[in-house]
Amino acid sequence: MNSSATPSRDRIKIFDTTLRDGEQSAGASMTFDEKIQVAEILDAMGVDVIEAGFPIASQGDFEAVSEIARRLHDAVPAGLARAATKDIDRAAEALKNARAFRIHTFISTSPVHMKYKLQMEPEAVLEKVFASVSRARTHTDDVEWSAEDATRTEHDFLCRCVEAAIKAGDTTINIPDTVGYTTPEEYRALFEMLINRVPNADQAVFSTHCHNDLGMAVANSLAGVMGGARQIECTVNGLGERAGNAALEEIVMAIRTRADAFPFTTGIKTPMLTQASKLVSTVSGFPVQYNKAIVGKNAFAHESGIHQDGMLKHVETYEIMRPEDVGVRETNLVMGKHSGRHAFREKLKDLGYDLGDNAFEQAFERMKALADRKKHVYDEDIEALVEDGIVSQAEGAKVIALTVIAGTGGPQKAIITMDVDGHHVTKEANGTGPVDATFNAIKAILPHEAKLSLYQVHAVTEGTDAQAEVSVRLEEEGRVATGRGADVDTLVSSAKAYVAALNKLSIRRQKASEPTAEGVEAVRVGERI
Ligand code: KIV
Ligand code: ZN
Repeated sequence: MNSSATPSRDRIKIFDTTLRDGEQSAGASMTFDEKIQVAEILDAMGVDVIEAGFPIASQGDFEAVSEIARRLHDAVPAGLARAATKDIDRAAEALKNARAFRIHTFISTSPVHMKYKLQMEPEAVLEKVFASVSRARTHTDDVEWSAEDATRTEHDFLCRCVEAAIKAGDTTINIPDTVGYTTPEEYRALFEMLINRVPNADQAVFSTHCHNDLGMAVANSLAGVMGGARQIECTVNGLGERAGNAALEEIVMAIRTRADAFPFTTGIKTPMLTQASKLVSTVSGFPVQYNKAIVGKNAFAHESGIHQDGMLKHVETYEIMRPEDVGVRETNLVMGKHSGRHAFREKLKDLGYDLGDNAFEQAFERMKALADRKKHVYDEDIEALVEDGIVSQAEGAKVIALTVIAGTGGPQKAIITMDVDGHHVTKEANGTGPVDATFNAIKAILPHEAKLSLYQVHAVTEGTDAQAEVSVRLEEEGRVATGRGADVDTLVSSAKAYVAALNKLSIRRQKASEPTAEGVEAVRVGERI
C-alpha cells in the first residue's frame, strides 16, 4: 500500500517492460529464445515484475509469455491487455502456468486519445475501466490498471478513473507519461494530487511509467517515487518506443548512490546490470552508446590527464560508484592457446555465463580458434564469441566459409558457402565493395527484397587484430530485423550479422502468415480497441 515519502527506506518494486514496451520499439523485436534469455537474467537480477509481452498481439507473443510465466522463479510475470474481454482472457490463458501472475490492462484517458484514437466519450471509457479491471480480477488478485497518456489527462477525470479501477479490485495504478511530455515537478505533483484526492488511493500501489522523448524519463520516475509511487516501470538500456523508456540501470543506481536524496531500496543485484545490458543490446541489435550512464563503455573510463591524476591519488575524486557495483571488471588478459577447460569454465562463470555442455564445448573450441588468430584474448573477446555463438545457434541458415577478393583492382568478388536446412550451398557474386559483394552472394542463396537500413562495425577491443562486431538492420514490408556477428575478419562478421537478420526476417514472415488468437488481427499498443 502506498504512503508518501518518509525518511525510512521504502522498498520500490522494479517492473521491467523490456520484453513488452522495449520490444515494441522499431527494429528491436526478439526471437522466442532471446526473450527467454532476457527473462531469465531479469529474474536472476531481482526484478519484481517482468512484463513478458502482449499475448493477444500475436501467437509468438502468446507463446513467449506462456514459456516465461512457466520458467520464472522469483519475479511475477505480467501480460498486457487492452480494456477488452478477449485481450484479458488471452493474457490470463498465457500466464496460467505461473506460480502467481499479474494482468496489466490499460485504456487511454486523455482528451486527445479518447476523441481521436478511441473515439469514445469519457463516460464510456470510465465504464470500460471498471469492466476491464473486474474481468481481470476473475483471473487473478494481482491486477494493474494503466491510464494511457495519464500526464495529459484532466485531473478530475483521472481521479474518477483511478477510483473506479481500485473499486473494481485493482491493486496497482500506473500513471504513464506515454508521450514523454511531463517534467519532474509536474509528475511528482500528479502522484501527490492522486494520493490525496482519490478516496480509496490507500488500497493500491502507485506506479511510474515514463518515456524519454525529452530526455527526462529517469528524472521523472524518481520524482514520481518522491510523490508517493512505490513501483517504477523501466527497461534495460532504456529500450522502448521512440526515444525509449526510463532506463532500469540508471534508476537503480541513482537510488543506491544517492540514498541521501532517495530514501528507498530496490531488490536489484546491481553487479548483474552490465551483463543484462550486454544481453539486451545483443538480442535487440541496439548498441549501447559509449557514454551511456552506468553501462556505457566509457562510463568508468577516465581519459583526461587531470582526471587520471585525481583517480590515482584517490578514486573518490572522480568516481561516485565503484565499477564492480554494476558488474564492470577490469579488462585483463585472460585466455590463450594453452588455457584449459577448467580455467575457461571459471572465466565464463566470472563473466556470468552458465553454458550447457555442448554450448561450453563449442565456446571452448571457438576460444582456441580465436587464440590461434589473435595474440591476446580479453574478457570482451570471450563475451563477443559466446554471444556470437548464441546467435549462430539460433534457428536458420549459417555461414560456413567465405572468401572475398578485394582491393584497388576491382571488381570485388565474394564466394560464400552456407548451411541451409542441413545442405551446403555455395554461390559467388560481385559488388561495389567487399561488403556489397558478400551481401550479394548471400542474397543469391537466400533471395529477399529487404533493404539494408543500418550497417555498423565496432572493434571489440583495441589493436588491429581486434574482433569486429557488426550490427545490421534490414527492413522488408514494414518488418524490421537486426542481426549481429563477431569475428576477427570484418567481412565474416558482416556475413554472420546479415544472415542473422535474414533468419529473423524469415521467422517474422512465417509468423505474419500464421493466424492469431481467435481471428484477432495482430495488434500493437496504441491501436484502437
Ligand atoms: O506508455 C504507455 O502508456 C504504455 C501503457 C500501455 C502502459 O506503455
Ligand atoms: Zn509505454
